[in-house]
Amino acid sequence: MDQAQSLREYMSRYNDKQQIPQSSRVITITSGKGGVGKSNFTLNFALALQGAGKKVVILDLDLSTANINILMGVSPRYSLIDVLYQKKEIWDIIQKGTYGIEYISGGLEIQDLMEFDQNKLWYFWRQIQKLQAYADFILLDTGAGISKELVDFILASDETILVTTPEPTAIADSYAVVKTVLQFSPQVPKLHLVVNRAQSYREAVETARTLKNACSNFLKIKLNSLGFLMEDDHVRKSVISQIPFYISYPNCAASKTIKQIVNTYLPDIDSSSLTVEPKGIRGFFEKVISFGKLTQ
Ligand SMILES: Nc1ncnc2c1ncn2[C@@H]1O[C@H](COP(=O)(O)OP(=O)(O)OP(=O)(O)O)[C@@H](O)[C@H]1O
Ligand SMILES: [Mg+2]
Repeated sequence: MDQAQSLREYMSRYNDKQQIPQSSRVITITSGKGGVGKSNFTLNFALALQGAGKKVVILDLDLSTANINILMGVSPRYSLIDVLYQKKEIWDIIQKGTYGIEYISGGLEIQDLMEFDQNKLWYFWRQIQKLQAYADFILLDTGAGISKELVDFILASDETILVTTPEPTAIADSYAVVKTVLQFSPQVPKLHLVVNRAQSYREAVETARTLKNACSNFLKIKLNSLGFLMEDDHVRKSVISQIPFYISYPNCAASKTIKQIVNTYLPDIDSSSLTVEPKGIRGFFEKVISFGKLTQ
């Protein structure tokens, strides 16, 4: 029996014994092109979800330039690596940001998980289980670029939010993300689109239309438009002050749009949860580990 298989068996035995009261929903936030506003969106979306009464944990999976913590003005002490190496409890590695947002630094290559013995993996798994019952939403902030690891994250998540700007390069890279994911699996979890840094509403609509049409005509994939964020200097100012714009400028255009996105998104997922149960963080790692095994 290989490691991934034995881990899966363990997971199902463990799950049977533990009545997990609720399932976290895992959302990957990504783009093809770097610097389009993923991390700012992730953090402020998390704050707006929290404002609507949801428990949110951000998992920073941007291994090269992880910077959500900088946007929040905190420095992470531990990462998921410490759960594996140091037997830290999941509660020890959750960093509380100043605004109540909880944050976990990934610090982990999926490959790392494949190199551990069963005892370590099972311990890791038990810790991940705790998160499942703890958070309503786990937002994964990813780095720039299209990698196999990103494809795995998208396929293992419950939903993905693609962030693009109106620049043709950003649109092309977002399209490339969807196309690449499809090369690995015909079954793609729900994909949402956020247009960021538009100069006008018209430009945002045109950007969404271009990308949605390309995905629908050439890839037969439907993108759900979540919202349009305009170019807003409050975003840059909030990065400089290291206070998220949703907190420092609650009435700026970007904050209002984020709030509006949450207001339309939450009722939508409440109705879809009746038919599709989220796989959650448990399902996420289960899938990611098995993908890793397949490509070894
Ligand atoms: N709506 C906006 N209006 C004005 N400036 C913005 C907006 N969104 C993002 N920016 C600017 O873009 C910069 C990059 O944003 P952010 O770090 O969120 O991008 P990213 O996609 O996470 O980048 P990376 O790919 O490097 O992780 C911000 O520091 C900010 O100055
Ligand atoms: Mg980022």
